Amino acid sequence: MKFREGKDMKRALITGITGQDGSYLAEHLLDLGYQVCGLRRRSSQLNYGCSEHLKDDIEFIYADMTDMGSLIRAIDKAKPDEIYNLAAQSFVQTSWEQPILTSQIDGIGVSKFLEAIRMVKPRSRFYQASTSEMFGKVQETPQTEKTPFYPRSPYGIAKLYGHWMTINYRESYPMFTCSGILFNHESPRRGLEFVTRKITHTVARIKYQQVNELRLGNLDAKRDWGFAGDYVKAMHLMLQQETPDDYVIATGETHTVRDFVEQAFKYVGLNYKDYVVSDQRFMRPAEVEILLGDSSKARKKLGWKPEINFEQLVCMMVEEDLRVVYDEVARFDHGNKRVYGQLSI
Ligand code: NAP
Ligand code: GDD
Repeated sequence: MKFREGKDMKRALITGITGQDGSYLAEHLLDLGYQVCGLRRRSSQLNYGCSEHLKDDIEFIYADMTDMGSLIRAIDKAKPDEIYNLAAQSFVQTSWEQPILTSQIDGIGVSKFLEAIRMVKPRSRFYQASTSEMFGKVQETPQTEKTPFYPRSPYGIAKLYGHWMTINYRESYPMFTCSGILFNHESPRRGLEFVTRKITHTVARIKYQQVNELRLGNLDAKRDWGFAGDYVKAMHLMLQQETPDDYVIATGETHTVRDFVEQAFKYVGLNYKDYVVSDQRFMRPAEVEILLGDSSKARKKLGWKPEINFEQLVCMMVEEDLRVVYDEVARFDHGNKRVYGQLSI
């Protein structure tokens, strides 16, 4: 399929299109008949990331969240009815190593984008990818739209700034800006450094005898994990409402990292206790101990609910990683008998 042209088609601009959520959202919007433009940054390798399979269906525009001129030009070129700002330095651990870059992309970048929209196309509807990480040291459980924030990482703090700017723009100007406070959502497209994918990918490598251990940090942390494919539908629904608002998107179930590990190993018939090694390198300077979302408002007002539960999510990710690792092993074995060691992420 080629990039679609048509006068009456709705136009969407997605930042972060090369990432996990950007790819699922692009698929969803294309299915709904949208023309999709995606913002990507220049890198030394041609990078379509998770949207590689959609590259002929999407119009890509080079821009960077830290470069306001490029954002202005991107909006002018895309002329979007809807804008989804998913771009971020999204890995919490890295935000302690690069706090200023994280603030520039995830915080000030949102300001730049909102200003660019106000200047170029103020009538376009705007979605901001806010996060349950803003609840941090949680002040109540479960967390709702009314729960006070207490971020515990440079990432969470930068995102909270972007969140409040999004609210401030709709309160200051006649702009339709929404914030989705999304709890953790995963998929086979999740980056390898995030704990769920690190677990499922390593389980597959253990199964195929490529490595013999899985090094992890805090096994007691609890997360409300859902499926990314379900969550992008909520983003779209938010921009179809009569008035802009903010919504918590979550499953309403919480599980420890240990639960995830146990379930993933069980799926391939192994006992996690024989493979998991505690490693201080993966402990956080300040941890978010528990996240559990109450998405009643989204369920009632948007008619949204998750389709995939925790067990199905773990199965989906392990199954896909078994396929991925099998292909890698077959390719390497076929080539040069190469095997690889423990990932250092
Ligand atoms: P992801 O896979 O890490 O994707 C991040 C995207 O942002 C990538 O496309 C990346 O491009 C792009 N990006 C990074 N820095 C940029 C910059 N300076 N300028 C332009 N683009 C830049 O993240 P995700 O899991 O899809 O999450 C999407 C959004 O939702 C993020 O804002 C994240 O913080 C937020 N969020 C995620 C979750 C979750 O559980 N997944 C929960 C709540 C909120 P490159 O490919 O070039 O690196
Ligand atoms: N990454 C990682 N690696 N996390 C580990 C490890 C490890 O080896 N061992 C234990 N953990 C714990 C972390 O300490 C954390 O408590 C939990 O696993 C989840 O870590 P991540 O998967 O890295 O995700 P996150 O919760 O920090 O952040 C994700 O969710 C946020 C929403 O709450 C990201 O997607 C953020 O972008 C998102 O905003």
